Amino acid sequence: MGTPARRGIEAQAQRAQFDLAWVREQFPSLQLEVNGQPAAFLDGPAGTQVPRRVMDAVQDYFLRANANTCGAFATSRRNDAVIAGARAAIADFLNCTEEEISFGPNMTTITFALARAFGRELQPGDEIVVTTLDHDANVAPWRALEERGVMVRQADIRVEDCTLDMEDLRRKIGARTKLVAVGYASNAVGTINPVAEIVRMAHAEGALAFVDAVHYAPHGLIDVRALDCDFLACSPYKFFGPHMGVLYGKKEHLLRLRPYKVRPAPDALPDRWETGTQVQEGLAGVTAAVDYLAELGRRCEPGATGRRKALKAAYQATREHETTLVARLIEGLLAIRGLTFYGISDARRFGERCSTVAVRLAGHTPLETATFLGERGIFTWDGNYYALNLAERLGVQKSGGLLRVGVVHYNTAEEVERVLGALQELAAR
Ligand SMILES: Cc1ncc(COP(=O)(O)O)c(C=O)c1O
Repeated sequence: MGTPARRGIEAQAQRAQFDLAWVREQFPSLQLEVNGQPAAFLDGPAGTQVPRRVMDAVQDYFLRANANTCGAFATSRRNDAVIAGARAAIADFLNCTEEEISFGPNMTTITFALARAFGRELQPGDEIVVTTLDHDANVAPWRALEERGVMVRQADIRVEDCTLDMEDLRRKIGARTKLVAVGYASNAVGTINPVAEIVRMAHAEGALAFVDAVHYAPHGLIDVRALDCDFLACSPYKFFGPHMGVLYGKKEHLLRLRPYKVRPAPDALPDRWETGTQVQEGLAGVTAAVDYLAELGRRCEPGATGRRKALKAAYQATREHETTLVARLIEGLLAIRGLTFYGISDARRFGERCSTVAVRLAGHTPLETATFLGERGIFTWDGNYYALNLAERLGVQKSGGLLRVGVVHYNTAEEVERVLGALQELAAR
């Protein structure tokens, strides 16, 4: 066995290098070319590319398991196994039980359904707290409850670094608060919020906490037990899987709240919150995406037995790689004349951000900048990316929003240099 120190040294020695070449081999679409240039996929925040095994799993579903649920024949039984497999994979991914996982078409649809059911428990005058930093999918579903007399309060940000104004948030959570809806990480500027602390603040006032982890999921390991959140939603298409949505809920809430549903559908967990036939081929791909990440983890840390441990190892490695890239990206961006940077730029605070950055270049709208980059095979995004409150607060909504460059673990140092070079070229015009 050895001492803990000795075991630590052995674990360190077992940790292999993050193998970027292997990673990129897994993603066939990364070979795409545009105008004779290799494509640089810096559009991850809007949806990531998928590894070959995800495509194979979807195809295999159609070949072997394409049927509806609970039939008394082979393909239906295989389909049931596919669904159970995806639930088990996501339970490992989020660190919860399979009963606490429901699937849906995307995070937005799931959140509207949850909000509608949650609203059945609320009275006029009850309050929900949302934030200025959030994607509208974590704002509009809660605002829809204003129709029932619920009051929605919005916690502000600190404009200088695009972080949540925690004092304002603290002030807005009170005795009437029933729910605090917060993002884990900003899909626009990359800020990672102190979610565990916010959950504690909500619980201290007797409110529940809903976490939008869509943007965080490709960048960091999620642990719903450690966060102690009541609900958490994410979308597999942002973490190397197909277009789907996932809802985690504490069992007690999933059993107490009453979802709107058709009468013959199962009312027990885990099916209770799933309306209609699921995107079953997508669920086959969800398992494959989680298994891809686990395999990456095992390659980085061969001693990581079990899927959850392997996922932890994967995120340790991808986080390191992403941080190296974003450090160079931000350093290069700050040196470009006429460029305005939004969000945390101080390297000492990179623990508070992920590898998504937003900028504007003087004299060019974000759309013009994104088009210039797109013609060179560099895929970025322009606009508000539905983080509407933030774009308005930063005063950029009426002038085209921001340009977003999103780095994920399959991106390279060369791609970072390419985007920097192209932006320098445009800035010099
Ligand atoms: C932070 C964040 N939340 C929510 C959503 C909405 O997710 P979906 O497309 O699964 O509805 C997105 C999509 O971009 C997002 O980035």
